[in-house]
Amino acid sequence: MRILLTGSNGQLGNALHAPLGQQGSVYAPLRNELDLSNPDQVRQCIREFKPDLIINPAAYTAVDLAETEEKLAHAVNAEAPAIMAEEARKLGAGLVHYSTDYVFDGEKLDQHGQVIPYLETDTTNPQNVYGKTKLAGEQAIQSSGCRHLILRTSWVYSLHGKNFLLTILRLARERDQLRIVNDQWGTPNSAAWLAETSCSLLAGLQQANTPADWWAEHAGLYHFSAAGKANWFEFATAIVTLADRQNKLNKAAPALTGISSSEYPTPARRPHNSLLGTQKLQDQFALDLPHWQDCLQECMQGLDQTAAQTA
Ligand SMILES: NC(=O)c1ccc[n+]([C@@H]2O[C@H](COP(=O)([O-])OP(=O)(O)OC[C@H]3O[C@@H](n4cnc5c(N)ncnc54)[C@H](OP(=O)(O)O)[C@@H]3O)[C@@H](O)[C@H]2O)c1
Repeated sequence: MRILLTGSNGQLGNALHAPLGQQGSVYAPLRNELDLSNPDQVRQCIREFKPDLIINPAAYTAVDLAETEEKLAHAVNAEAPAIMAEEARKLGAGLVHYSTDYVFDGEKLDQHGQVIPYLETDTTNPQNVYGKTKLAGEQAIQSSGCRHLILRTSWVYSLHGKNFLLTILRLARERDQLRIVNDQWGTPNSAAWLAETSCSLLAGLQQANTPADWWAEHAGLYHFSAAGKANWFEFATAIVTLADRQNKLNKAAPALTGISSSEYPTPARRPHNSLLGTQKLQDQFALDLPHWQDCLQECMQGLDQTAAQTA
């Protein structure tokens, strides 16, 4: 199987590269070889490589900067996936595309005012430019008629790249006090777990009688997340506690204080509720999902001093 992987320098793309290599021959051009904001390059790359599968974890992910770089965010998050979908349909290839909890407005609550998970059938209503461009990418893929999986995930972290885990580790080493937002809820997801699980979802594709049979049964939009919920304060507390237990802070752990989103204004609005209900994914792929804290523990076992220092 010929696999085109985008964004292999990103958190998820980096984690996907090795396990995808077990499933086929992977071509993973970096941004200097394939600029996703250049439609002609995207089209040409696919036409030349002729993949059986396109895996697209690449995205314009600078959520705050997107507010002032809408054109670029739209090109990468909406126009490039639209071209991938169109070319995949012509080739009969499959497209695995990652999307985000930010397609929702975050206002979903139960009758007691508690956050409850969003389902794939819930109405989208993105509140920032990043979310709007990611939703436009999803819609282009869905309307293209190509074989696709759209996997919406949330709060991605790893030991590679820029993310909340590495930022908290750096701050915990520098400061004695950290103030972290405690009124935005979601589920942290390890890029390594997302990558391994993505590959296990696709394992059936190799075993199916024909790719067409597999796609007919499995194609669609899925919420893709580990189990459990947290707010950012709880996520930070778990990170600091584990790092302290592993003696990775080189000092006393900082004191953490929960604050409201209004005390930490950002250019882009963030949803209050980012929880993704994953029953559809579990049923379709017979998956048992681990708790996010177990994934965090596993990820942090791989932590070395260098990764934290260079964050
Ligand atoms: N991070 C999160 O918390 C989060 C939450 C929900 C959903 N998601 C979704 O999950 C997926 C993976 O996210 P991630 O955290 O792994 O993202 P990431 O670490 O920011 O990586 C994004 C990748 O996209 C590449 N990219 C951006 N613009 C490009 C362009 N013009 N041409 C070519 N490549 C370009 C980047 O290349 P460079 O390395 O050259 O910059 C990078 O390799 C994305 O679809 C994202 O929307 C992420």
